[in-house]
Amino acid sequence: MNVQIVEVGPRDGLQNESVIVPAEAKIELIKKLIDAGLVRIEASSFVNPRWIPQLADAEEVLQGILPASKKDVRISALVPNVRGLERARLCGVSEVALFMSASESHNRKNINKSITETFPVLAEAAKEALALGMRVRGYVSTVFGCPYEGAVPVDNTRRVTHALVEMGVSEVSLGDTIGVATPKQVHEVFQELVKDVTTERLAGHFHDTRGTGLANVAAALAEGIRIFDSSIGGLGGCPYAPGAAGNISTEDLVYMLHGMGYETGVDLNRLTEAGAYIQEQLGRELTSKVLKANLAK
Ligand code: HMG
Ligand code: MG
Repeated sequence: MNVQIVEVGPRDGLQNESVIVPAEAKIELIKKLIDAGLVRIEASSFVNPRWIPQLADAEEVLQGILPASKKDVRISALVPNVRGLERARLCGVSEVALFMSASESHNRKNINKSITETFPVLAEAAKEALALGMRVRGYVSTVFGCPYEGAVPVDNTRRVTHALVEMGVSEVSLGDTIGVATPKQVHEVFQELVKDVTTERLAGHFHDTRGTGLANVAAALAEGIRIFDSSIGGLGGCPYAPGAAGNISTEDLVYMLHGMGYETGVDLNRLTEAGAYIQEQLGRELTSKVLKANLAK
């Protein structure tokens, strides 16, 4: 496997669906994703359930999936603070993801704090997670544009990325939260970032709001990036980024990567079964093009 896929559909995808998917169906979906060969899956988030009611059942989902998942599968959860970390720990989670934004207004809308106020909150969570032997990932949102501020200077991303790395995160995923990035910008941002952080410690997290998601992956690949986040079926969005659409679809990403000669360890037929399953649960046609094409065969 020379490209790692981090499946974020059960978290990033389902957090933004109007239908609340029952915990048993979420667990079944994650089992199908594991059966398809995905080895990194973000299963839910331990945020304030009043902010994200779609994932209020995080405990049930993690407790349901962790005993059933294989040893080499990394199941992670998003946490915003020590409170979330403690909830994750009690479920037996061994990998968490911390998150904040490169732009001030999105950070405030999403986690109710300024960027400067967020650093010590995440640093404390990272310190405790590392002391517990957990693996810690970091996300930077609004790297390529903010719904409230527009363009975001790359220096903001550099500052937040640097802070996360100092906290001890193993990798930083750069988020195009509202799907505005184009390949030119992706080249430029990654070229800047790799001056401070090695390519192995950076990931691309593209939402496909304007149809540039896969082109952005191709640009990041050319910059040496080999970790990408995606959602089964193209589920997703961000509830605090108005108009944001789903992540790039895992089916479309796998299809493109395999066609380009990369190995992912994922079986596209089994992936289609997972996509078809969650599509049926949600009762609406998902946006993944490869899912549609495979189901039409
Ligand atoms: P706050 O209201 O400022 O928190 O929220 P607080 O510390 O003042 O506490 C207020 C209440 O929340 C208290 O409860 C706390 O106990 C509770 P009360 O005493 O009022 O009953 N609380 C919690 N409850 C459960 N779990 C917790 C927790 N923390 C506090 N962990 C907070 C701050 C960060 C908690 C809130 O703003 C929040 O939950 N935000 C989550 C927003 C979110 O999940 N957004 C989507 C994920 S990010 C994303 O999608 C982007 C990404 O995909 C990358 C990209 O695309 O760019 C990652
Ligand atoms: Mg996202």
